Amino acid sequence: MSQETLSNLLHETRRFAPPPELAASANVTAEAYEEAAADRLGFWAKQADRLTWAKRWDTVLDWTNPPFAKWFVGGELNVAYNCVDRHVEAGRGGKVAFHWEGEPGDSRTITYADLQREVNKASNALLELGVVKGDRVAIYLPMIPEAVVSMLACARIGATHSVVFGGFSSEALKTRIQDADAKLVITSDGGYRRGKPSALKPIVDEAVAETTSVEHVLVVRRTGEEVATTGKDVWWHDIVDRQSDQHEAQPHDSEHPLYILYTSGTTGRPKGILHTTGGYLTQVAYTHHAVFDLKPETDVFWCTADIGWVTGHSYIVYGPLANGATSVLYEGTPDTPDRGRWWDIIQKYKVTIFYTAPTAIRTVMKWGDDIPAGYDLSSLRILGSVGEPINPEAYVWYREHIGGNRCPVVDTWWQTETGAIMISPLPGVTSGKPGAAMRPLPGIAADVIDDQQQPVPNGGGGFLVLNEPWPSMLRTIWGDDKRFLETYWSRFDGLYFAGDGAKKDEDGDLWLLGRVDDVMLISGHNISTTEVESALVSHPKVAEAAVTGATDPITGQAIVAFVIARAAAEGTEGADFVKELRDHVSKVLGPIAKPRQIMIVAELPKTRSGKIMRRLLKDVAENRSIGDVTTLADSTVMDLISAKLPSATD
Ligand code: WT7
Repeated sequence: MSQETLSNLLHETRRFAPPPELAASANVTAEAYEEAAADRLGFWAKQADRLTWAKRWDTVLDWTNPPFAKWFVGGELNVAYNCVDRHVEAGRGGKVAFHWEGEPGDSRTITYADLQREVNKASNALLELGVVKGDRVAIYLPMIPEAVVSMLACARIGATHSVVFGGFSSEALKTRIQDADAKLVITSDGGYRRGKPSALKPIVDEAVAETTSVEHVLVVRRTGEEVATTGKDVWWHDIVDRQSDQHEAQPHDSEHPLYILYTSGTTGRPKGILHTTGGYLTQVAYTHHAVFDLKPETDVFWCTADIGWVTGHSYIVYGPLANGATSVLYEGTPDTPDRGRWWDIIQKYKVTIFYTAPTAIRTVMKWGDDIPAGYDLSSLRILGSVGEPINPEAYVWYREHIGGNRCPVVDTWWQTETGAIMISPLPGVTSGKPGAAMRPLPGIAADVIDDQQQPVPNGGGGFLVLNEPWPSMLRTIWGDDKRFLETYWSRFDGLYFAGDGAKKDEDGDLWLLGRVDDVMLISGHNISTTEVESALVSHPKVAEAAVTGATDPITGQAIVAFVIARAAAEGTEGADFVKELRDHVSKVLGPIAKPRQIMIVAELPKTRSGKIMRRLLKDVAENRSIGDVTTLADSTVMDLISAKLPSATD
């Protein structure tokens, strides 16, 4: 961004107050903000008491060597004990931890007592394979219960896991194994995707062949497809099944490394984000309790993320299990065997809290309202969103067509680096605004500043920063403290800069505006891609939109938009439709934001976690050859989009 702060063009007036019954029985009320503001560290100390500590901490926060934080210093605990054993000891062993649903329709019910036995056996197997406290274990698995069991077994014995998303290539897996020096890889023959077995083991073999640290590969049988074996392979059913289901968990230091999770970012080598034990578990447990108003006795929680992303770590595994929740774990895609699969699962397990991503919401929106309308979704009471800014129209659609206009939507902002939710409405407190993440949670300090590091006034936009350390913050980039300092702590003095642009509205509520790298400079105005995309999605015929700035001789940059129409909409081709959309944006945001060019496309380029890759669209818009597509989920998408060129301009 230049000297100027980010323009605030979108004005949204809709408000959704919390349902009165929810407000009356909410886990967290407005007082939490005051309590935390009065004594932030005291507030977090109280939240740490949600956990069972083997040894209590001496100091809540050690911030004497910023940005290297230590939380709950001197404390000791075992994460697996907190997530599993203590619930069994409290007499809740028969409670369901996971309703697991395989893509082909097979299912497993896993109680806390089952989970305890499985985690103990897996822990004993890891020890037999020579894994000891402090070792790194790479986990490359589909969404099957063994993925959760593997993570917990590592946590239990003090091995640091590095889960690699099952959609990544052998090259990506190899670099992650090498960076962490992993001693063991846990994988499977494959998993089910779109109705077919999809192999994982050959990808692991290719990666492991080029590494030196891996001693064994532990293989779960999921699909039963034939796999080649190497001298390093051990079948899960051969080694885990014969272990004792007893294992005594040892406490680990509060700052013991729990996991590494790699973020690809847009450039360079992936960064191994390091999370540790006590602070991380405290904040994921607290936020899961507060943001989703979890009632462990009655709720059925479903987070649709893959376990390979931080959302899966924090809100499938650690947060829900620390809180003794019942969750759904689903292996496959939302359109297998048909586009009603998610709604069928909600109906089947009577899901009460549903947490997904804007990209998924816009996709189901594109498929049509009639699909969710065919299912009983009346069990739902809270809806969540994460991963990208949620466009107001997608929010309102989600509220209405999935939430039956009764469920609050919580738009949760956070990152792999933050470990847990940071900015979000509280469902029993906040009157939600569609598209706004609203306020930092109690105990969190965030602000929007300009490039002189001054807070922007209400109505202004700028850089989103975090002003104070938080318990689940990343501790460093694995093996690279220097890069940690440079990447997150060097742009502004003493502040963590997240890379995102945001605005404060007239009430001081926060709206995320996307990555600052994506901001467009149009005739001297910094305009966020998010606002233009949201204006396009607010047109009734538009399901999805992506916007980028392209070099323009007159305005410096000009707005180029890529639009996907809703399936049921008519008249979504040709120059008339393009004109209709350009005029619509101009009306909603003002003439400054009118796109120079709009292309109607069938797909948008997305990363494997569903984020739009605007960099590639910029290449198209500027008539360049397309850059690096290796992080695209589907590399053929760009060919389709380029083939559409040239399109309507005027
Ligand atoms: C980036 C972090 C956090 C888990 C999933 C993604 C974007 C995330 C929101 C939101 C607007 C959001 C940001 C952030 N983002 N949540 N509610 N509103 N943007 O984790 O892959 O580390 O990505 O996702 O740009 O920096 P991640």
